[in-house]
Amino acid sequence: MKQKILITGGAGYIGSHTAVALVEAGFEPVILDNFCTSEKSAIDGLSAIIGFRPIVIEGDCNEPSVLENVFNTYEIKGIIHFAAFKAVGESTQLPLKYYHNNIGSLVLLLQTMQKFNIKNLVFSSSCTVYGEPKVLPATEDTPRQDAESPYGNTKKICEDILFDVTKSNAGNKIISLRYFNPIGAHPSSEIGELPIGVPANLVPFITQTAIGKREKLTVFGDDYDTPDGTCVRDYIHVMDLADAHVRALMYLAKQEDNFYDILNVGTGNGNTVLEVVKTFEKVAGNDLNYQIGPRRPGDVVKTWASTEKITRLLGWKPQYSLEDSLRDAWNWELKLAKR
Ligand SMILES: NC(=O)c1ccc[n+]([C@@H]2O[C@H](COP(=O)([O-])OP(=O)(O)OC[C@H]3O[C@@H](n4cnc5c(N)ncnc54)[C@H](O)[C@@H]3O)[C@@H](O)[C@H]2O)c1
Repeated sequence: MKQKILITGGAGYIGSHTAVALVEAGFEPVILDNFCTSEKSAIDGLSAIIGFRPIVIEGDCNEPSVLENVFNTYEIKGIIHFAAFKAVGESTQLPLKYYHNNIGSLVLLLQTMQKFNIKNLVFSSSCTVYGEPKVLPATEDTPRQDAESPYGNTKKICEDILFDVTKSNAGNKIISLRYFNPIGAHPSSEIGELPIGVPANLVPFITQTAIGKREKLTVFGDDYDTPDGTCVRDYIHVMDLADAHVRALMYLAKQEDNFYDILNVGTGNGNTVLEVVKTFEKVAGNDLNYQIGPRRPGDVVKTWASTEKITRLLGWKPQYSLEDSLRDAWNWELKLAKR
């Protein structure tokens, strides 16, 4: 019997790719999603890749009865908790929406896990907790900074909650993965990122501009202290990120009770905005319409991950290059255009 892993938010961008990686590793994903920021078509794409329709429960992680039903119905061996809101800008306008969904769902999930004696949890955290790191690359010991947004604050608070829970002798075994910048799509183009409205992230903005959905890309500032003056990020292919979740779950299974650790997931390399644009142009074979605009307040100038810890503990290394990621993101945009 395959071990069942609950993926909250499993219809979303990272969750759907992680479901593929779980199936490839011999697990059975059980998806819980209320489709508030995702589409049911993601389940069709996922089914096409894995060759069967996965178990999908449509429901809200903030509803106690929904979680109890899942745990009563299925023998869940571990959980990956993706379900959350992630729009930084919106979180400044609607902080309570973010505190309720992102923190409320984690607290309820932990309470219900304890009730059903389910121990293992992988949590989606973010490099946003580092703010502008004073020393690069950012290691897991790099001090966290005051959050720039309610969204970022939910990730800090959730990390603190997880730490406290594992100190309380309740038996939980938990890893927080601090993602750097997930990009790309499954190489089959069956699933990918589906941004809501105007994309806040660079790569979907690039692909939407290239396909003609947006007129032009504005690069926010080219006078920073970086190789070409534009901001630097660590872009990680979503399938590499998915693989990190599977390895984290397998690692947790070998740990003693009351375990907590934090791992960065990035490539260990930083790329400037203009490097991403140029690499995209090469991969897509098109010139991108872009202009240099003023700096955007609140932007981190440069951040990239130290991957020493995740490589040492999980044996994880990224398999995809920036070119691969941008090619897959572009193929996904081309596929969307045919819908
Ligand atoms: N994408 C990124 O750049 C990034 C970076 C760092 C961290 N993260 C974190 O990774 C996680 C997944 O992000 P994503 O990019 O896949 O986002 P996404 O919006 O594509 O996926 C989130 C999924 O969770 C579901 N969901 C939200 N609230 C729910 C609830 N209460 N009950 C049930 N389902 C619910 C949504 O419908 C969606 O399918 C989030 O926690 C996010 O904060 C994402």
